[in-house]
Amino acid sequence: MPNIHPKTTPIYQTSVFTFDDLNELELYFGQPGQSYMYTRYGNPNTDELAQEVNKLESGVGAVVTSSGMSAILAAILAVCQAGDHVLCAEEIYGGSSALLTQELTRVGIEVGFVPTADTYTLDSYVQPNTRLMLAETMSNPLLQVLNITRLAQETSRQSIKLVIDNTFASPILTKPLTLGADIVIHSVTKYLSGHSDVTAGVVICRAQEVLQRVQKVMMVYGLNLSPFEGWLAARGLKTLRLRMKQHSSNGLQVARYLQQHPKVEKVWYPGLEEHPQHELAKQQGQGLFGGMLSFQIKDEAEAVNRFMQALPTIPFAPSLAGVNTSISHPLGTSHRSLTPEQQQKLGITVGVIRFSTGIEEPEELIAELEAALAVV
Ligand SMILES: Cc1ncc(COP(=O)(O)O)c(C=O)c1O
Repeated sequence: MPNIHPKTTPIYQTSVFTFDDLNELELYFGQPGQSYMYTRYGNPNTDELAQEVNKLESGVGAVVTSSGMSAILAAILAVCQAGDHVLCAEEIYGGSSALLTQELTRVGIEVGFVPTADTYTLDSYVQPNTRLMLAETMSNPLLQVLNITRLAQETSRQSIKLVIDNTFASPILTKPLTLGADIVIHSVTKYLSGHSDVTAGVVICRAQEVLQRVQKVMMVYGLNLSPFEGWLAARGLKTLRLRMKQHSSNGLQVARYLQQHPKVEKVWYPGLEEHPQHELAKQQGQGLFGGMLSFQIKDEAEAVNRFMQALPTIPFAPSLAGVNTSISHPLGTSHRSLTPEQQQKLGITVGVIRFSTGIEEPEELIAELEAALAVV
């Protein structure tokens, strides 16, 4: 074999690694992290991704998983067992809420939801068997900003772990572990990979023993990511900082434009001074507010359809955080599994559109919105 020194990590698209003899096998078990055995247990591409995300989030280590959902599952199963109780912020991604209420309850993990108004005083929600609370840095889809330091003080007082879904903010804006959270998860599918071509997740931990549990759950449940997806995500991650600056700058310009438009009834974006947690968002996000915003047009499906059909380059795509702008419809997609009462309570109506601002020239985005709003 010639002496090859690649500048970037090659793709180790292999399910298994070989050993010369029993001595090498013993080295694998005796010196963890020095060699590889089986891709479900570890692979150079997924390890590279885990290490890079861990650096950004300032953890003791990270575990990469097959999706954001499996990252949430791994984080919860690392800490909880049957008979335990989990708290969850009421304003949360619909899939997270479905995982808790429809699946984890089936294996004996109880769930309680905390209304936004009560987030920082958990006395009436914590039970003797409560182990953790799950919340998002910025809620999906209405961009309520969580005061992580304050919640971490409360979860620590209650002796429960705080798990933060940092997908919407990314570590460029906010590093929850440095603010007192115990575990951070991401849907790597979104900003971290950034190009709408990967489905992946990651769990980053503050304590070594939690990290070891997450690693074990990932391996034993088979929640691992494939090498190629790990490679793609690690490649995308290299431009995260640049992308977040452009997403944030575009997000602010689009939000300001929408805010003054007569056909737009409401805009939710933490960068707007009118946003209830604007000051907190500014300080917790290093002056950046990200690319996600939501806005409300006329509460009629026909108006929403006309608006969507009049956008020539901005697609309706039920995901977010890619380099190309897209819109989504929370009521019809991410929050579809909630009851009509829950949807109503959260304010997710038919006219609410979620806007994932890409990194295009902002003038192009605004011109396209202007034309589409004209037909509403
Ligand atoms: C905030 C948030 N967390 C977690 C997830 C789940 O991630 P994935 O689709 O990668 O499983 C999503 C997906 O939209 C999300 O928006």
